[in-house]
Amino acid sequence: MTTAATALPLLGLRITAGPVELRAVTDDLIVPLAELASAGIHDEDFMPFDSPWSLTRAEEMPRSMGQFHWGQRANFSAARWSAGLAVFYDGELVGSQGISAHDYLVTRTGETGSWLSRRHQGKGIGTAMRQVICAFAFDCLDAEQVTSAAYTDNPASLAVSRKCGYTENGRDVRVRMGKPAILQRVVLQRANLVRYEHELAVAGLAEFRRSIGLDQPDGEPH
Ligand SMILES: CC(C)(COP(=O)(O)OP(=O)(O)OC[C@H]1O[C@@H](n2cnc3c(N)ncnc32)[C@H](O)[C@@H]1OP(=O)(O)O)[C@@H](O)C(=O)NCCC(=O)NCCS
Repeated sequence: MTTAATALPLLGLRITAGPVELRAVTDDLIVPLAELASAGIHDEDFMPFDSPWSLTRAEEMPRSMGQFHWGQRANFSAARWSAGLAVFYDGELVGSQGISAHDYLVTRTGETGSWLSRRHQGKGIGTAMRQVICAFAFDCLDAEQVTSAAYTDNPASLAVSRKCGYTENGRDVRVRMGKPAILQRVVLQRANLVRYEHELAVAGLAEFRRSIGLDQPDGEPH
């Protein structure tokens, strides 16, 4: 059967590990994800993201969420790709976990980013979903390292990185909400991943690998 995933294999990707499922953000998930984000991700006086998208008004969030994911689809190429995935825990939509890369065939490096609805935070889900995406990058996409970053006033994200085995990798000064903020970069080498207790099962992997330039029929990366 021909589906949208035939055109863009990202849309057929589904990674499961015990209670955690990372699933491509198909159109049916855009409004539920927008509603989850509007229910609250962080305190009003704290901004964990470079771009303050989480402050988008609830009425506008579905369009904004859709445009973000449609933009990722429209711009997907082997040279520069982003996979924003919906996170389910025990079957319930709880947040989003993404991985993106540029020049991946050369760098073998993916950058992760994530959020959870506030009511699902602090229960170990953030650590589990990061362990899953990192295991996916290393085991299924042949990554050599995974990077991430968080502002220094985001102890939860930095704790997740530490627990997964990342080490510090320099700091940048960024403009956040018009003010300077220190961004802590972190990097995870393949050998240092602290693995999740459950094995991964991946649907749509062969097609996704080809879409990012791996396993080309002539043996040459494209
Ligand atoms: C970052 C985020 C994804 C982590 O998910 P989570 O499910 O809350 O994380 P976990 O429960 O797996 O682990 C959180 C860790 O942070 C620690 N932590 C949380 N708040 C803390 C604080 N104020 N000081 C010190 N440690 C803190 C917890 O103790 C826990 O570590 P532990 O298990 O060793 O005790 C989630 O909190 C979130 O969505 N935050 C808002 C959005 C965001 O910051 N995204 C990342 C942008 S870089």
